[in-house]
Amino acid sequence: MALLATSLTVFARTSNNKVRVPIEQPVAFSHALHNGQLGLDCRYCHTSVEVAAAANIPPTETCMTCHSQIRVGSPQLAAVQASWDSGEPLAWNKVHDLADFVYFNHSAHINKGIGCSSCHGRIDQMAAIWKNEPMTMGWCLECHRNPAAQVRPRSEVFNMAYVPPAEGQLELGEQLVEAYHINEEKLPQCSTCHR
Ligand code: HEC
Ligand code: HEC
Ligand code: HEC
Ligand code: HEC
Ligand code: HEC
Repeated sequence: MALLATSLTVFARTSNNKVRVPIEQPVAFSHALHNGQLGLDCRYCHTSVEVAAAANIPPTETCMTCHSQIRVGSPQLAAVQASWDSGEPLAWNKVHDLADFVYFNHSAHINKGIGCSSCHGRIDQMAAIWKNEPMTMGWCLECHRNPAAQVRPRSEVFNMAYVPPAEGQLELGEQLVEAYHINEEKLPQCSTCHR
């Protein structure tokens, strides 16, 4: 019943629903530069992604670790400097925003060998980020019904360039599903995502 009532809000949430359309931000922060070229690990900024449900957006302080010395005075960084001076956080626009009646947890995926790129695409090649996948129920279920097709070794979760073995993904996947104790019975159940 609660689901039926809240499902109406799905139609009200029209923002950021487009797939593969870059979202404009108050600062032209580029993942392609910071992650792809400079090689910063995702966890340098998204510190909670392995341990919590939500992956945090870094505070201005994280940017100032470098930008108190690098490109000081650049117009591109004016909003970052202003945020640092005033203490007002930057107002980043959300790229992803699941409906409130859906439960999602980053750490549960990261710790079971699901890579960032399986859901977010090649972040290391994006200047401005877009939503790479529809993030609909059908899309979630495609993997929840057959995790062996997409699970990878845990050591490869943060590797944006990872490609599954050309042959033998299913064999590897089935081994990993077992090794990581992935609960295939629970995964497609309504109560996994709607609680
Ligand atoms: C230097 C800091 C930094 C690093 C390193 C970094 N990010 Fe980010 N990330 C940000 C900031 C700032 C935002 C918010 C602005 C934006 O969306 O571009 C963000 C936004 C995102 C978003 C969109 C969030 C939303 O609004 O839904 C995703 C997805 C993401 N990052 C994934 C990654 C992945 C994957 C990596 C590693 C490959 C990574 N990030 C590395 C700083 C960083
Ligand atoms: C580990 C160091 C480091 C961190 C942390 C970092 N940056 Fe950078 N950033 C750089 C470097 C290096 C450049 C490239 C400078 C150049 O091209 O001369 C750069 C370039 C930029 C530029 C382009 C500047 C210009 O004048 O063209 C922007 C905008 C930017 N960073 C925003 C951010 C934001 C926002 C954050 C925090 C979310 C952040 N950076 C965190 C090192 C860092
Ligand atoms: C199984 C799919 C999946 C994987 C794997 C995944 N994400 Fe996400 N990510 C999502 C979804 C879905 C959202 C939107 C969550 C919401 O709106 O509640 C999201 C949102 C984000 C956000 C915005 C903040 C937040 O938590 O809402 C960041 C940053 C992010 N992801 C970074 C990462 C990084 C870094 C990795 C790899 C370490 C990663 N994600 C792996 C699906 C995924
Ligand atoms: C590429 C594969 C994949 C995709 C896509 C995916 N998941 Fe998962 N999900 C998994 C795996 C693997 C687990 C771990 C299951 C386990 O531990 O038994 C998991 C676990 C979960 C859990 C259980 C967390 C917990 O703490 O019990 C939730 C909730 C969840 N996923 C929601 C979602 C939602 C919502 C989406 C779509 C936005 C999604 N997932 C997309 C593979 C995926
Ligand atoms: C793997 C996670 C997952 C599972 C399992 C799941 N759902 Fe969903 N559900 C979602 C997501 C994601 C959405 C879409 C939210 C959005 O649009 O932001 C959704 C949306 C819905 C909606 C809102 C209407 C709509 O279609 O958008 C209803 C009703 C719903 N789910 C019922 C169910 C029922 C009943 C089951 C069990 C048969 C189930 N869900 C299993 C993730 C899941």
